Amino acid sequence: MSRFTVNGQPVHYRMDAKTPLLWALRDASNLTGTKYGCGTGHCGACTVHVDGRAVRSCMVTIEELEGSFVTTIEGLSRDRSHPVQQAWVAESVPQCGFCQSGMIMAAAALLEKNERPTDADIERAMTNICRCGTYSRVREAIRRAGR
Ligand code: FES
Repeated sequence: MSRFTVNGQPVHYRMDAKTPLLWALRDASNLTGTKYGCGTGHCGACTVHVDGRAVRSCMVTIEELEGSFVTTIEGLSRDRSHPVQQAWVAESVPQCGFCQSGMIMAAAALLEKNERPTDADIERAMTNICRCGTYSRVREAIRRAGR
C-alpha cells in the first residue's frame, strides 16, 4: 500500500505495489488524460509530474511514490488553462492529440525550471514522440509560453 497525493488529493491504492503509476491513475483514479503509448519509457505519452519533475508514469511503480506529490494533466491547472495549454491552443499544436497531454506535462516541467529555454534546451527536454510530427508547433508553443 502506497500513500501519496495525486492532484492534491491523498490516494491510497489497494493494488499490487509493483503496479505502474500509469495504471493506477487510469484504472483506479479514472484520470485517463495520462495515455498509454509504449509502456517502456520511450514515447512519453504517459508523462506526469512527480514532485515537479516530468516522469514517465509507466516506468515508476506506486511503491516508489511514497510521500510524493503527483500531478496529472487534469491537475495541471485548477480554474483556468495553464499558460502552456493556452500556448498549445494559440499555436494549434495537436493533430490526433493522443500524445499531447504528455507533451504538455513535459513542456510545463521544462518551463517551471527554465522560463526561457533555448532551442537546445527544448531539444534536450522534449523527448516525447508524436506520430503526427507536431514537433515544430510544440517548439513554437513552448517559446510562446515562455515569453
Ligand atoms: Fe510511458 Fe510510452 S507509455 S513512455
